[in-house]
Amino acid sequence: MRDEDYSAVLLDWYDNHARTLPWRISPGDRRAGVMPDPYRVWLSEVMLQQTTVAAVKDYFQRFTTLWPTVGALAAAEDAAVMGEWAGLGYYARARNLLKCARVVAGDLGGRFPDSEAGLLDLPGIGPYTAAAIASIAYDIPAPVMDGNVERVMARLFAETMPLPDVKPVLKAHAARLTPNTRPGDHAQAVMDLGATICTPRNPACGICPLRDPCKARATGIAADLPAKAPKK
Ligand code: ADE
Repeated sequence: MRDEDYSAVLLDWYDNHARTLPWRISPGDRRAGVMPDPYRVWLSEVMLQQTTVAAVKDYFQRFTTLWPTVGALAAAEDAAVMGEWAGLGYYARARNLLKCARVVAGDLGGRFPDSEAGLLDLPGIGPYTAAAIASIAYDIPAPVMDGNVERVMARLFAETMPLPDVKPVLKAHAARLTPNTRPGDHAQAVMDLGATICTPRNPACGICPLRDPCKARATGIAADLPAKAPKK
């Protein structure tokens, strides 16, 4: 399969099967030109760093009701934000969340940077979050690497070298498959595929849109990938 065909298949699948998420613009609306609010993309990605979509949904609704803009969040009392964060864990993230909101609101006129490098400069934003915001909020073709994407790439190309050594190889695959048109939807399509079909255990290969080109499926090793180095 040619590189560009993977994304074409994924985007077609996403157009029909995208999950409805409170921070997401549906593929239909997005194709009509609706873009997401970078504040909502940022907030959802920071929350999702530590938990599942299911656990984050209610927190996201509550935060965006209380603080609908980055300016509102920046002006909030620290204790109020920490209190609402309770249960999400990793309180350093909540403190960085506030720090970041205050930099964006105070120094950047309330606008999140529209480049990966600009986003990386902000408190609490690492390579994953910077790439996720750049692609989802601004349609910049930044390859987004998280556990889901690593698993999908390891299986598609039957990369059997164990984690973490295999990471650069998986990143190269992800970068090669990232399209210049609709990179934001492509990133979300890979995430949804990893969360709903190409799952860690018992992947649903029979209904996977990429079952034909998938090298791990062809050799029956999909469920074993990505391999992990044995603990010493
Ligand atoms: N997991 C982390 N970020 C996500 C997103 N934007 N869509 C779906 N799953 C995700």
